[in-house]
Amino acid sequence: MATADPVRSGESLFVNGDCVEGARRVLAAGSVDLVVTDPPYGIDGDRLDRHYNRDESHVVDGYVEVPEAEYAAFTRAWVAEAARVLRPGGALFVVSGYTHLHDVLGALHSSPLVEVNHIVWRYPFGVWTTRKFVSSHYHVLYWARPGGARTFNLEARYGLAERDADDGSLNYLDREDVWALGREYKPGRAKNRNELPMALLEKIVQYASNEGDLVCDLFLGGGSTARAAIGLNRRFAGFEVSGAIFAARVPELAALVPGERLAALRRPVVVSVPNRGKTWTQEEETALREAYARYRRAGLGKGEAVARLCGEFGRGRFAIGNRLKRL
Ligand SMILES: C[S@@+](CC[C@H](N)C(=O)[O-])C[C@H]1O[C@@H](n2cnc3c(N)ncnc32)[C@H](O)[C@@H]1O
Repeated sequence: MATADPVRSGESLFVNGDCVEGARRVLAAGSVDLVVTDPPYGIDGDRLDRHYNRDESHVVDGYVEVPEAEYAAFTRAWVAEAARVLRPGGALFVVSGYTHLHDVLGALHSSPLVEVNHIVWRYPFGVWTTRKFVSSHYHVLYWARPGGARTFNLEARYGLAERDADDGSLNYLDREDVWALGREYKPGRAKNRNELPMALLEKIVQYASNEGDLVCDLFLGGGSTARAAIGLNRRFAGFEVSGAIFAARVPELAALVPGERLAALRRPVVVSVPNRGKTWTQEEETALREAYARYRRAGLGKGEAVARLCGEFGRGRFAIGNRLKRL
């Protein structure tokens, strides 16, 4: 299948055509920092509205599905292409339902990529059932190309010292591998079938790439990955085989203003930890023990005392907590 000339806008590129053929044509090997993609599900996508009992009146037609019998070979081909375009250290996030998870995992395991995390996205719009459990999750498979530094922005969204009302670490909670995220409702607005929520895509883009990086989506659909990537000031390359979807959605995507979503992001409180990794001296240990006892005598709870000691001793919460246990 021939691919049309790409649509270019600023640092973004949109190709109407098969992603494998298109990527071979426009993306050099090792040129992409992050691939985030949501391939067709191979479950008769044109009738997904029946599965989900939803109003399809604003859904843009043209979704191209992959026949079940071809799904495994189709998946191996695009995974190999993703591996080719990724730089060493670059990462791939694939959203997959459970029906063809075995094909996606099989393709990943036979590629040069290595597994980083198997994330479960729990969503609140599962199909009502009475004779079995309600399916309410997708898989988000996080893999990377070995041989280079992988981008993982540890404090992209929450600083290591930030706590919730129960004194839990907000950073830890945000980095657990089960993500509970809802769907966005877009009454009356054009949408693609299975459009992913912006919260999911922005989280991936924030943790796994930096401004100016090249983010790629091999299966563009409504372009939610493009919105997250361009909105967070990343360069973007996207592919969509459907002429109808491409024509309906790409003009809006090409008009996005790079960085337009940055101002709305939560600002993490990042505390510098100048003494991280340094060996504790005897004097420091004595001072730590005395300061902790003083704070507790003054009526501070354990959590607050430790938080103050972090600032005073220039160390992280775990380091302070562990040292106090040993003293
Ligand atoms: C699950 S949807 C992507 C939805 C997208 N993540 C969103 O949020 O709107 C998969 C898309 O891949 C497209 N597609 C199917 N086969 C393709 C191929 N070989 N190359 C590029 N796109 C393809 C389908 O037409 C469909 O729009």
